[in-house]
Amino acid sequence: MSQPTTIKKTVLLTGGGRGLAVAAAEKIAAVDNGEVIVTVRSKSQVESVQAGFKQKGFSVRVLPLAFDDFASVAAFPNELRSNGIESLDVVVLSAAVMQTSPERRVTKNGFEETLQVNVLSQLMLVELLTEFLQRGNNPRIVTLTSRLHFPDSRGLPVDFSFDDPNLESPGAYNPDRAYKNSKLAVLWMTYALQDYFKQKQFPIKVNAFCPGFVPQTAAHSTKSWWTWFLLKFVIPHMSFATSIDSAAEVYKFMALDDSFNDVDGAGFYTEKVAAKSSDESYDKEKQTRFLEWAVTQYEKFLPSGQSQLKLI
Ligand SMILES: NC(=O)c1ccc[n+]([C@@H]2O[C@H](COP(=O)([O-])OP(=O)(O)OC[C@H]3O[C@@H](n4cnc5c(N)ncnc54)[C@H](OP(=O)(O)O)[C@@H]3O)[C@@H](O)[C@H]2O)c1
Repeated sequence: MSQPTTIKKTVLLTGGGRGLAVAAAEKIAAVDNGEVIVTVRSKSQVESVQAGFKQKGFSVRVLPLAFDDFASVAAFPNELRSNGIESLDVVVLSAAVMQTSPERRVTKNGFEETLQVNVLSQLMLVELLTEFLQRGNNPRIVTLTSRLHFPDSRGLPVDFSFDDPNLESPGAYNPDRAYKNSKLAVLWMTYALQDYFKQKQFPIKVNAFCPGFVPQTAAHSTKSWWTWFLLKFVIPHMSFATSIDSAAEVYKFMALDDSFNDVDGAGFYTEKVAAKSSDESYDKEKQTRFLEWAVTQYEKFLPSGQSQLKLI
């Protein structure tokens, strides 16, 4: 594999207030003297997160973007423009929620929170940022999925029903299922987006990856003190666990490595290795169906009121 490019890049990472995107932003800022931008959920976090990066010697711009609110996503392009950013080379869609609540949570837009935050808002953001990426150099989008999307992963199995994507029917909701369904939908989104960009002849590459199991950041998503303790201090020493630093290294690879410029997108990577995602994720009919359904959920919030994301 080749090394990260030496060309300066403008890289945007979502969910950069904590977790893996923070470590990834620092790694990218350390090797690339372009522009690194991260998003945080609210305006009130901007200053402290910005100061945190500065204290460690990294120049990272911090902008607000709430994924449980389509209006916030709709406002983001203007946020970029008002900060003088007109083009993007890399967009890494890292923000996500893994519910700790056993109760189904609904956003102000009326969607099951995991589905909106992890997928619908990410797709809407891609639609709005396409014009920025078109002005970029070897533009690419990197999405975050998880090995938990496989049907045989631990816990309740993935079970995405197009009749009930928001898990509203009695007994349908479970936080594990919501997360797994969202990470399957991220793959449908990734593959459908690559088809869309190819059809439009936009030179934007889209790839998905799983960073590995990183217990230290996953610890944020538990309410049990004992599980938190195990995730923070015990499980990181186990052979199946990935460190924050190794995961951030994979982010950097997915965001900057030049080898992606020469191959088709729509790949799935576990760590830095190209792999096969689940059979269900490759189902073209489901990819198209998901894309068609998803755009109708957010399009009224677009400035144009109409989504352009349509597969032929
Ligand atoms: N850690 C793992 O073992 C693992 C394994 C496989 C895949 N992944 C994926 O890797 C990515 C990063 O994981 P992580 O461990 O770093 O997760 P994390 O520590 O839980 O961080 C998630 C980030 O997403 C942001 N976020 C959540 N809801 C948001 C909302 N409504 N609006 C705006 N931002 C929101 C959080 O911001 P707040 O601070 O405001 O909540 C936080 O910055 C995720 O996509 C995750 O699914 C992680």
